[in-house]
Amino acid sequence: MDITRRGGLSMLAGLAVAMGARGTAAAAPTGLQSLAGAKGLRLGSSFGWAAKGADRGSFANPAYAELLTRDCGLLVPENEMKWQALRPTPTSFAFAKFDAMMAWADANSLPVRGHNLLWHQPKWMPRWEETHDFGATPVRAAEQLLVEHITTVCQRYGTRIRSYDVVNEAVNPKDASLYQTALSRALGGPEPTLDLAFHTARRAAPHAQLVYNDYMSWEPGNATHRAGVLKLLEGFKARGVPVDAIGVQSHLVTQGVDARATITGLEGEWRRFLDAVTAMGYGLVVTELDVRDNNLPTDIAVRDRAVADFTRGYLDVMLAYPKLHDVLLWGMTDRYSWIEGFEPRKDKARRRPCPYDAGFKPKPMYAAIAGALAAAAPRS
Ligand code: G3I
Repeated sequence: MDITRRGGLSMLAGLAVAMGARGTAAAAPTGLQSLAGAKGLRLGSSFGWAAKGADRGSFANPAYAELLTRDCGLLVPENEMKWQALRPTPTSFAFAKFDAMMAWADANSLPVRGHNLLWHQPKWMPRWEETHDFGATPVRAAEQLLVEHITTVCQRYGTRIRSYDVVNEAVNPKDASLYQTALSRALGGPEPTLDLAFHTARRAAPHAQLVYNDYMSWEPGNATHRAGVLKLLEGFKARGVPVDAIGVQSHLVTQGVDARATITGLEGEWRRFLDAVTAMGYGLVVTELDVRDNNLPTDIAVRDRAVADFTRGYLDVMLAYPKLHDVLLWGMTDRYSWIEGFEPRKDKARRRPCPYDAGFKPKPMYAAIAGALAAAAPRS
């Protein structure tokens, strides 16, 4: 499918329509980052590696690269910096793909944030980790494995990466407990493991913002997850662990067609959570924004409108916090979103979670993001 030429032309036409449709913001001269930058904010997106010209959310796909360079001021690797990608064995690293992504980002003057230095769940560690032999002195061996990983990655990229999701999703949303992995069992438990990850990152990347990243959210059913994350953040503070900010992933799920009405019911609890986090001195990063159009009818216009209103309401709440400087999307187009395979809709309709549709045309969600950025108070 020739998505380069056709997509590009229809995308620009669609942009004018989307921007004009709501009148929420003057058409951005050069995309969303121009609106964000005017307020001291950065708008970013995940991106990936793929073979040149592959129909994927990669920098080597000209149609996708055009969205990144036009709309973004910050990027994050979707998968290529994870242990599962970097660590084929306990004694080797595979940096080629992420190096290529960093080289492209550098060539396009786009900063990259690191995701992630430790995804603290057995399912997301390399296959070899769960059966790894930590030997006669398991604590030392586990510490060495973790320290070597974080130090090697941070020192390889130096000041080219200025923010890291040091730990990702360590809290079990079901009971607020901390997950265990073979690494943390060998090292003496989850807390010493997570603490060591942050201390090591501080030593290896003293210039970088160190982030705890998780998907606790504002929808019903997230109260235990929020409580568990708050408890973890309080523990970091009490133990003097160098954590600078919380990554609020923001994988949102619409609650009904009347988005504004549903937001009213979600906002109070959510602000109390954000107030508690920022009162402890943590910064905020929106790290993985996309919107699942669950609980909405099949009609695309109705779904897109509700997704856009939900997005705008959420970003208005988040951008009211002066400690929020970076808003990253988890992908720019429905075409490559991870969500397509996740929790399919009952009507099996293709999901529409991103600002551009599968044909690279901007949707009402694009205009909603533009409107939220244009309305945001400037950051110091
Ligand atoms: O690259 C391999 C390929 O070689 C192999 O043939 C194929 C089939 O096994 O798998 C490919 O790896 C997949 C990878 O995405 C790249 O496409 C993994 O199986 C698959 O699990 C992985 O899914 C990613 C997921 O994190 C797990 O790492 C999604 O793309 C990615 O969007 C998702 O992102 C996460 C964030 O990192 C953390 N927050 C939640 C978010 C959504 O789940």
